[in-house]
Amino acid sequence: MDHFQYTDGELCAEAVPIRHIADDVGTPFYCYSTATLERHYRVFAEAVGGLDATICYAVKANSNLAVIATLARLGSGADVVSGGELKRALVAGVPASKIVFSGVGKTASEMAAALKAGVMQVNVESVPELETLSGVASMLGIDADVAIRVNPDVDALTHEKIATGKSENKFGIDWESVPGVYRLAAGLEGIRVAGVAVHIGSQILDLAPFREAYERVAELVGTLKADGHAIETLDLGGGLGIPYEDERPPSPKEYGEMVTSVVGGLGCRVILEPGRMIAGNAGILVTRVINVKQGANHPFVIVDAAMNDLVRPSLYNAHHAIVPVAEPPAGADLKEVEVVGPICETGDTFGKPRPLPEIQAGDLLAIRTAGAYGAVMASAYNTRPLVPEIMVSEGDFAVVRDRITVDDMLAREGLPGWLAEGREARPGAGD
Ligand code: LLP
Repeated sequence: MDHFQYTDGELCAEAVPIRHIADDVGTPFYCYSTATLERHYRVFAEAVGGLDATICYAVKANSNLAVIATLARLGSGADVVSGGELKRALVAGVPASKIVFSGVGKTASEMAAALKAGVMQVNVESVPELETLSGVASMLGIDADVAIRVNPDVDALTHEKIATGKSENKFGIDWESVPGVYRLAAGLEGIRVAGVAVHIGSQILDLAPFREAYERVAELVGTLKADGHAIETLDLGGGLGIPYEDERPPSPKEYGEMVTSVVGGLGCRVILEPGRMIAGNAGILVTRVINVKQGANHPFVIVDAAMNDLVRPSLYNAHHAIVPVAEPPAGADLKEVEVVGPICETGDTFGKPRPLPEIQAGDLLAIRTAGAYGAVMASAYNTRPLVPEIMVSEGDFAVVRDRITVDDMLAREGLPGWLAEGREARPGAGD
């Protein structure tokens, strides 16, 4: 459930008409609902309430400070994958004691920042990384609490670009090597073996792969304990899918029950890293129609948002529902149109043609379920600056990231000395 609904003929975010925000900040912009974020966090927390669980929101899904702070106020921790995300989580008010530092390639300076901040746990993904962490921790005189991310070789049955739990993927330690890596870790200075971590992918729509991975991990915990390791934490990652179109993902309750039944008896503290499930339906991308062009097969609705603002449709062929901000009259005629951006690539489309009521230049459209992996994946391709992010709470809204201007972008560039004004081209150059 989300809080973007039609009221009195127009789409609102909670009690704020989207049109008002568009008049105020211009388009395109991302708009997030506090009530939806809070609701999703609470539903998830309740679903895993029977476990000794820490929820570490996966900041990569939406790392706006206001989003992280909204969740931190409800008690959420954070899963971070870079020095930048670590800083965001701390600035947004997440206590370091609830931050997990994950990621397949951490630099020594990122590790040092995490250890100095006092993060709860570092999830290590390779032997060289373990050795670097040992060096960094010893130099700082700190013992790093470490979980080894294992690769359970399980097919998450999701888009190939976001499946991470198969042996051919770059993630985690391959299954056969796991016991040896734990033995190595236990002997390294500055390393305190604390747990096991696993994450098999994202937008997972079936409980079976989760169950299979968690059962493998549960068995592994027994083996590791028998080898003398104190396994206190189990980080089960994120990945629970959400409906974009007509998918029927498992409910958080079903997921929570399955997790409880598989690992509840192991006596470990459980860490969960939901991202999409919390933020996905809490955001929309609002765009204005530049014009409508007749194509050979169907009309193209050309809007002022593009693949640089929301790359999911072009990168993963992802479906995002598109709705007019002005509520169409009941029984309005629908026409198949393709909503596309202005970027010079055929891939700059928001998806296959779909039925929309009569659309005209100047109309506002909302691209739904854009709260996760939307703004965070944006680029400035075609010199299209990053768009603003707006947060709504009941009848209030606030700009939580300003629109970046082209001048801001140009101010960061400069000409090298040899291109400075007044200098001639090298003799012969361009011949
Ligand atoms: N934990 C780890 C270690 C992860 O790598 C991820 C996501 C999560 C948690 C959160 O997963 P979630 O609950 O959000 O599924 N850009 C892609 C998704 C990439 C997911 C990367 N890792 C997309 O737009 O679909």
